[in-house]
Amino acid sequence: MKKKLQWLFLAALAVFALAQLANPDRTNPPVVAGRDLFAVRPPPPEVATLLRTACTDCHSHETRWPWYSRVAPMAWLVAHDVQEGRAKLNFSDWPVTDPARAARKFGNISDVVDSGEMPPKKYTAIHRDAVLTATQRKVLVDWAEAQSAALKSETSGTKQ
Ligand code: HEC
Repeated sequence: MKKKLQWLFLAALAVFALAQLANPDRTNPPVVAGRDLFAVRPPPPEVATLLRTACTDCHSHETRWPWYSRVAPMAWLVAHDVQEGRAKLNFSDWPVTDPARAARKFGNISDVVDSGEMPPKKYTAIHRDAVLTATQRKVLVDWAEAQSAALKSETSGTKQ
């Protein structure tokens, strides 16, 4: 019985060690000022702080990779979230030349923050400082709505 457990333990250890070989991509591509929302359309400091605390780990090229993102299987989960998050919304790759698309992105931000969908619960469970209060949600929603409205009026040419 004891021997069996030992073998089981060794087998588990081997699987864990092998899993480390399948190391996912954890890169932060360079942030180019001309495509970075924070540079192109700087949000008010309060909004910028909220975005950097609760969103940019998954939605920018400025991801703070935690230590557990280096250890499989957590590494795969974190890398997958960042990959998918960046694909949907990337503050470091903002649609600067496409105001209509940017307006839609701001609309999406407003929606998911208002509904409480973002930041994801699995993230706030670990990053307690990213838990948004109702007031903080409203600050983000109001900002995103105002940005969306401003961009829409810019594109429709109804300004003046
Ligand atoms: C743990 C990583 C993570 C964090 C932190 C995070 N997101 Fe996301 N976000 C994702 C992933 C993954 C998706 C794509 C899958 C989905 O829609 O659930 C996503 C999708 C989105 C979308 C696109 C929805 C759509 O359907 O087009 C928006 C907008 C968004 N997030 C905004 C935010 C905002 C704003 C914050 C901060 C308040 C935030 N997210 C924080 C991972 C994250």
